[in-house]
Amino acid sequence: MPSRPPRLVVISNRVPNPGDKKAQAGGLAAALLDALGDSGGLWFGWNGKVGNVYRPDPTIGEQAGITFATMELSRRDYNEYYNGFANRTLWPLLHYRLDIAYFDRQQYSRYIEVNRLFAEKLSPLLRTTDIIWVHDYHLIPIAAELRALGHKQKIGFFLHTPFPATEIMTALPNHDQLVRSMFDYDLIGFQTEKHKRAFLDYLRYELGAEVTAKHVELDGRRVRIGVFPVGIDADQFKRNGADAESLVWHRNLRRQHGDTDWLIGVDRLDYSKGLIERFRSYERFLAKYSEFQRKVTFFQIAPPSRAEVPEYREIRHELEAEAGHINGRFADLDWVPINYINKSYSRAQLARFYHESRVGFVTPLRDGMNLVAMEYVAAQNPQDPGALILSRFAGAAEYLDGALVVNPFGPDGVSDAIAMALDMPLEERRERYDSMMAAIEGNDVRKWGRTFIQALIKIRRDRAAK
Ligand code: UDP
Ligand code: G6P
Repeated sequence: MPSRPPRLVVISNRVPNPGDKKAQAGGLAAALLDALGDSGGLWFGWNGKVGNVYRPDPTIGEQAGITFATMELSRRDYNEYYNGFANRTLWPLLHYRLDIAYFDRQQYSRYIEVNRLFAEKLSPLLRTTDIIWVHDYHLIPIAAELRALGHKQKIGFFLHTPFPATEIMTALPNHDQLVRSMFDYDLIGFQTEKHKRAFLDYLRYELGAEVTAKHVELDGRRVRIGVFPVGIDADQFKRNGADAESLVWHRNLRRQHGDTDWLIGVDRLDYSKGLIERFRSYERFLAKYSEFQRKVTFFQIAPPSRAEVPEYREIRHELEAEAGHINGRFADLDWVPINYINKSYSRAQLARFYHESRVGFVTPLRDGMNLVAMEYVAAQNPQDPGALILSRFAGAAEYLDGALVVNPFGPDGVSDAIAMALDMPLEERRERYDSMMAAIEGNDVRKWGRTFIQALIKIRRDRAAK
């Protein structure tokens, strides 16, 4: 009899609530929902709520073959673990923002404690035959906590964000302790070769680990390292994009915005997304290429994110001021150059926006991958596709060779790219689209999940000896 595949247990801080039809802003939840749809399994993590009960047991729910085990965070855990060490220390650090990274020993202790708490709450739900896949920077030390509880299952880790250069990483006071704990994983995955290289450099030069073609070793403990670029469900975006023209919504929007060419940006309201720089580049474009005034409309969709972290509140104010400034400078009674929207949309709605937009405007200052770039391309009309402007600092730039790749820090270059995208001949747009679609369809989100899991299953190791 063929043996049953092991059950997959996914652990992430962000878990969508089963049955919640609300838009899920964030690449991790979007990708995992698609990837788990394939295999089923157990998904454990935070349910997004801050509760009054102190550290309750997880609630179990079931949907579409996935069992969800989610728990609330106490106010203090939420402040010090999620808003604190995860999003005020690690997130800026991983995105090269040392200038706003905040270091606090108490928050670090709380981060370790919540990792321990998650491990303890998950522990009774685990079977010895499971394989475990941990996601992102919130939960780096959870494998060490699970091992301390005696769990010997294979555990993999995937970092959705970049891994920064050693000089940045070492600014974190407890960097070596944190990274050493990663040797309790069996497999560690990154989005791109660059992130993997930065990690290996750190291990080699900072920790003195032995790096071979197959694995890295430190103090007798081995871990495998790989690159597993996350993808999207391309068919879904193709289908939803193609629906756009049949909708009343489409006719109304068109009527409202005249016969302009649309640029679209879709990002969580996060300083890593380069929104201020994007707005300024757009302003530069309107000034420099004045023949495009009244002929273009820029939609920036930016749902609020991590709103209790001070740096996120600040950027919101700055962007409102910048959008107001641009509209004040260029708008007329019948034309608004920038539509800045702080609301989230479902992925089906986004696909229609993408489809309708002549230019995808994706210019993060740093990004692990950036799914929006791929979603924009997948939703295009293959006969008459739009052009993608993409930051060289998005992981996606390593894979989407048909994009107009820009440096988001340089408004002149970006404004030239906007003009080039709007003027691009059909033939060139098609060629670029075809090559990007080949990459996107060749690596969809299910393949990402399968490839990582197979690599984890295939690892031969002597965990009992660890
Ligand atoms: N997203 C969404 N609704 C919104 C804004 C974004 O569903 O209003 C989704 C978007 O389609 C994408 C994800 O959130 O799948 C964002 O992923 P990305 O990798 O671009 O950035 P992240 O937010 O993970 O940094
Ligand atoms: C990025 C991170 C994810 C996170 C998502 C949304 O994609 O890599 O780990 O879930 O942003 O952020 P949030 O703080 O709302 O979970």
